[in-house]
Amino acid sequence: MLWAGVAIAFILAVFFVVRHVQAADPYVQEVLALQGDRDRGQEIFQMNCAVCHGMEAHGEVGPSLLSVSARKSKSKLIQQVVSGNTPPMPQFQPEAKDMADLLKYLEQL
Ligand code: HEC
Repeated sequence: MLWAGVAIAFILAVFFVVRHVQAADPYVQEVLALQGDRDRGQEIFQMNCAVCHGMEAHGEVGPSLLSVSARKSKSKLIQQVVSGNTPPMPQFQPEAKDMADLLKYLEQL
């Protein structure tokens, strides 16, 4: 009966991965549909991100973010902030509007 356990575990794993992708997507869509405010994004950045990335995003513990939008697409930038996939950078869960403002700021660095 081991194969049955393995099969069930596999099906559950696929189910959760699919659900995760589906859950993440509407948030990205919502953020991308909003008009970001760069100045507000800068304030959010300085409060939440500057400890690691520096007040002007030139880099401290975290890397410099200058021209980061040339390396990463909008949705990659959103994923970077909300996923928590690259420790020690923590996982953030900003409101969609806050994320849109932050994205606007990151894009003009
Ligand atoms: C605790 C320190 C820390 C904080 C706070 C932090 N980061 Fe980071 N960040 C990092 C580190 C370390 C990396 C490099 C991760 C890696 O790729 O391994 C990183 C990577 C990034 C990258 C990708 C850089 C690239 O060149 O691809 C972006 C974009 C980013 N951070 C944005 C932010 C934003 C926006 C915030 C605030 C909401 C933030 N970070 C808060 C530490 C931090």
